[in-house]
Amino acid sequence: MKDKFVTAFAPATVANVGCGFDIMGFALGGNGDKVTISGASGKRSKNILMTGPFGDLIPADRLKNTAGVAVDAYLEATGNTNLNLDIALEKNLPLGSGMGSSASSAAAAVFAANEFLGNQLSTRDLIPFAMEGERVACGTAHADNVAPSLLGGFLLIRSYSPLDIIKVKCPDDLYSAVVHPHIELKTSDARRILKREIPMQDVIRQSANSAAFMVGILTEDYDLIGRSVTDLLAEPKRNQLIPGFDAVRMAAFESGAIGFGISGSGPSVFALCRGEYKATTIAAKIKDAFLGYGLNSDSLVSGLNSPGTRLV
Ligand code: HSE
Repeated sequence: MKDKFVTAFAPATVANVGCGFDIMGFALGGNGDKVTISGASGKRSKNILMTGPFGDLIPADRLKNTAGVAVDAYLEATGNTNLNLDIALEKNLPLGSGMGSSASSAAAAVFAANEFLGNQLSTRDLIPFAMEGERVACGTAHADNVAPSLLGGFLLIRSYSPLDIIKVKCPDDLYSAVVHPHIELKTSDARRILKREIPMQDVIRQSANSAAFMVGILTEDYDLIGRSVTDLLAEPKRNQLIPGFDAVRMAAFESGAIGFGISGSGPSVFALCRGEYKATTIAAKIKDAFLGYGLNSDSLVSGLNSPGTRLV
């Protein structure tokens, strides 16, 4: 056990997906964090070994790091509190990006720990431990990043208590163009500015949109997907935190996006598009629009049925 190690990769994600605040998310193909779990010989180390392009920017303290919190919650629940597992995190996703950076670390960590201990739980059963990582990152144990990061594909969280998470197959030709402008937005701040109370008429419209969105996905009705992705809960507040939001949105629609919204709590945005080529073109237009506001950005084009966490 001392020389054994396991490494897992967990993808970035888009949470909320417009009309699904805290209840919808999908995995992205491409970038993600990697975690290596190894058997320590002595006492469980207090710090995580941090590497990767963003490794210097988050706490190495196990109790403040989403990877550490997720692994320790898992060890506690499985009765392995005396085990000395060490954690090394390769932090590849930018922080405060809106692409599920904290979730990716937690998902990779808990997946690797479970594999290290002989898969005591199913991947689905790991979701609550990764959610504990989110609690330490932003104050709320939301599942709309960790669930798709772990399980892959598009996930709908019907209930948090008890947890009831449904995987939904999306049309193969449905692509997302995610563009990340280079500013940092903390999820905790982006949650603090949200309204505490929502007018009944907005609740009705949001419920109708999220139901219609799911019908659009299941029936491959791209027009319905496009007209129901609208978010009335978070976007009207959070759009002010993203420079050039209206211009970027307009650029996406003018170049043929079928839907548009803030990815997670921002500042990344996503456009839903029909076909990979279209998504690539739209990503370029969105990047140009951000540049008009002095912001460099990077983009990621992905289908909505991408795989979740896996061993590497
Ligand atoms: N549902 C969460 C939020 C996602 O919007 O605050 C954060 O990535």
